[in-house]
Amino acid sequence: MMKHPATAHVDLIPGNCFGTFKLPDEVAFVTDRGEGSNLWTTDGRRLIDFVLGSGPMMIGHGHPRVVSAIQEQAARGTTFYAMNDVAPRLAARIADMVPCAEAVKFVGDGAQATFYSLRLARAFTGRDLVLKFEGAYHGHHDYALHGLNPEHGTNYPVARPDSAGIPGAVSSTILVAPYNDLETTTQLIEPVADRLAAIIVEPVQRSLLPRPQFLAGLRGLCSRTGALLVFDEVVTGFRLALGGAQEAFGVEPDLCALGKVIGGGLPLAAVAGRRDILELTIPGRPEDGRSVYMSGTLNGNAIAAAAGLATLDVIAEENGPARLVEIGSALARGFEDCAYRLSVPLQMIGPPAFADPVFGDGEIYDHRSYTATNRAAAKQFGIELLKRDIFVHPASKIYISTAHNYDQVEVACKAAYEAMGSIRDRGLVE
Ligand SMILES: Cc1ncc(COP(=O)(O)O)c(C=O)c1O
Repeated sequence: MMKHPATAHVDLIPGNCFGTFKLPDEVAFVTDRGEGSNLWTTDGRRLIDFVLGSGPMMIGHGHPRVVSAIQEQAARGTTFYAMNDVAPRLAARIADMVPCAEAVKFVGDGAQATFYSLRLARAFTGRDLVLKFEGAYHGHHDYALHGLNPEHGTNYPVARPDSAGIPGAVSSTILVAPYNDLETTTQLIEPVADRLAAIIVEPVQRSLLPRPQFLAGLRGLCSRTGALLVFDEVVTGFRLALGGAQEAFGVEPDLCALGKVIGGGLPLAAVAGRRDILELTIPGRPEDGRSVYMSGTLNGNAIAAAAGLATLDVIAEENGPARLVEIGSALARGFEDCAYRLSVPLQMIGPPAFADPVFGDGEIYDHRSYTATNRAAAKQFGIELLKRDIFVHPASKIYISTAHNYDQVEVACKAAYEAMGSIRDRGLVE
C-alpha cells in the first residue's frame, strides 16, 4: 500500500514522535489539520481534540483572529533580532493580566522560562539550592528533571535525575519535597534555609489542586528565608483565571514562568515578575557579580508575539477561563455519571479546565497518592476513547478549549461510557 506522502518519512524521526508523547500503534495517527476543537487525521478520521497541542490551543485550532494576526505579521517580516513593535504590546497585555508581572522577558518555550527563572533566582539571592516538588514537571532541562516520576519515591530531599546525561553536580543543587505537605517542606528547608535560592511549584501540580494554605505557606516560607517563590504557570496561566493561578488562589510569587497559550500555538514563553529581579538581565548593567546572561535568537519572535496577542485578546473578550469551567464541568459530571452507572471508581481530579480521569478511591493530593491509583486502567481508558475518535493524552489531563461545545461533550460522554464498560469487562477495574 502507498504511504500517505506525509507519513512516508516518519521513520527518520527516532520513536516517530516529537518528545515523550507516543501513542500505541493501534491508535496512533498522523495529523492532517486542526480546526476549532477538531483534528483530522491523514487517513480521514475526525477526532474531538482534548489535547490541544498539550495546552497552547486554548481557543482552538485556526482561530480566524489568530490566523489573520499571523498572516499580517508574516507579511511584515518574521524575526529581526532587534526589538519589534509587537512583543512590547504582548508584554503590556501580560502585565495587565498577571498580578506579579512588573516586567516580562520573552524566551522560546516553557522549559526555558523555568530554566531562566531559576538562574535569575540564584543570581538574585547568591544561593544555589532550589526546592521542587515530587511529580512536578517544569520542562526538559537538567535542573527541572528531578523527582518527576521516581519509581520508588524520593528519599526526601535527595534529588534523583529522571534522565540519563544529567551530571551529579546538578542533582546536588536540587531538593525534592512532597507536594501539598507544608510541614515536611518546612522541615526539609530549615537546615539549609540560608542556601535556598528558590522554591519552584506548579500551583496546580499536574491536576492536583493545592490544599488550602499550601501556596500561602510557601509564600511565607520564602519571605522568611529570603528565597524566591517561582510559580510555574505554563499550564495554569490565562487558563485558571485571566491572571492565572496567582489570581485564582490570591498568592503572588516573585517570578512566574508563562508559556503554552502566550504564543497562540507558536514557540513563545516568558518569565514575568518583579522588576528588580528581571532587571538583572539588562545588558551592560553595573558589574556586581549578579548580571544574568539571557539570550536567544528567536526570543520575542514577532509572529509568535502577534499570535499570542490575538489569543489573549480573544480569551479576555470571551472570558475564556469561565467558558472552560462551564464546558469542563459538564464533561467531568458526564464522565462521573457514566462511572456511577457502571459502578466504576472514577474521580475527575483537578480544575474543570484540565481535569484528569483517575481510577481509585480516597483523597489524591500528591504524587504518591496519584501513582497509587489504577494507572493501567487510566491508560486503557484513554486508548479506548481514542478508538472512539476522542483524542486524549491517555492517563493525563483532558484539556478544554473555548471552542468545545455541549454537543461534543455529549459525544465524549457516550464514548466514555463505552470505554469504561470496556475496561471493566477486561477486569481492569472492579
Ligand atoms: C507546568 C509545565 N511547565 C513547563 C513545561 C515546559 O514547557 P515546554 O514544553 O513549552 O518547554 C510544561 C510542558 O508541558 C508544563 O506543563
